[in-house]
Amino acid sequence: MTLNRVTVIGLGLMGGSLALALRRAGLAAHIVGCGREERLRQAREMCVIDSGSVDAGESVRGSDFVFFCTPVETSIKLLKQVAPRLKPGALVTDVGSTKQAFAAAARETFGSAANERVLPGHPLAGREVSGLAHASADLYKGCRWVLTPLAGEMLPVHRCLISALETIGAHIIFSTPEEHDHTLAYTSHLPQLLSTALSLTLRKTFGSGNPALQAHAGGLRTMLRLAESDPVMWEQIADSNQANIAEALENIEAELRELRGCLTSPEFRTKFELAREFTKGLKS
Ligand SMILES: NC(=O)c1ccc[n+]([C@@H]2O[C@H](COP(=O)([O-])OP(=O)(O)OC[C@H]3O[C@@H](n4cnc5c(N)ncnc54)[C@H](OP(=O)(O)O)[C@@H]3O)[C@@H](O)[C@H]2O)c1
Repeated sequence: MTLNRVTVIGLGLMGGSLALALRRAGLAAHIVGCGREERLRQAREMCVIDSGSVDAGESVRGSDFVFFCTPVETSIKLLKQVAPRLKPGALVTDVGSTKQAFAAAARETFGSAANERVLPGHPLAGREVSGLAHASADLYKGCRWVLTPLAGEMLPVHRCLISALETIGAHIIFSTPEEHDHTLAYTSHLPQLLSTALSLTLRKTFGSGNPALQAHAGGLRTMLRLAESDPVMWEQIADSNQANIAEALENIEAELRELRGCLTSPEFRTKFELAREFTKGLKS
């Protein structure tokens, strides 16, 4: 099984890694990249793509599978732009961190044919660093890859995509765009915002370069890992999942207030015990 001709739009961490993984697994006969001239040159040098175009519409011409690996709002804009240029029967998917906006754009663009033309996705893999230089053929090995079909019917072209994703090491899970965005607000977006908030709190309290901050160990470094994430990507994630993120922040603000209120009461220990038990369950 191969996906034959594939286009990857957005040759950064996710798109570059995907192209490398598809190539290594022999899943694509030809990989077309889409990005700025400089990025295409870099991708050719790294043997990520076979050919490339700066024009998204041109890049999808004749391709059987099109992967959008750009920031969420960019993918939506480009989806509408490339739709008339897609080969009949070609399947579009994406790796965006939120799914409702992309799914809505797919429905708007393709109407009753949306399920045949688009299968939105989100690999639960990634790193706090971005860019093609960090791409790796191993990025998706062992990761969960959420797919949010636009209708119940699973088509042969969907199965073909799923089989390719499984071959590069992904475990497929299904969700709805709504459920995905609500859950991810808690499991991904909230951890990111907590890391960012922690960094900002340290900055405000100690200022940059304060020697007092040498007094830190692995715990802080673990908590701050995500604070190095790309602001442009997160701006678009926050914008496309505002209501769910606001709900998650409200809930954690309430939890933090409760913790502050019980620092010296027996309830403090109860909270730690509850959290420890829940976390152990999550890991098993
Ligand atoms: N990073 C993660 O941990 C992670 C995890 C899961 C999902 N995602 C999702 O994956 C997507 C990509 O994220 P990433 O981490 O791969 O970011 P990235 O490394 O910054 O890559 C994004 C790429 O998109 C390119 N791009 C932007 N606008 C474009 C346009 N109009 N036409 C063509 N290419 C364009 C950028 O080009 P330049 O290189 O020229 O700037 C860059 O190469 C996002 O939707 C994100 O939500 C990310």
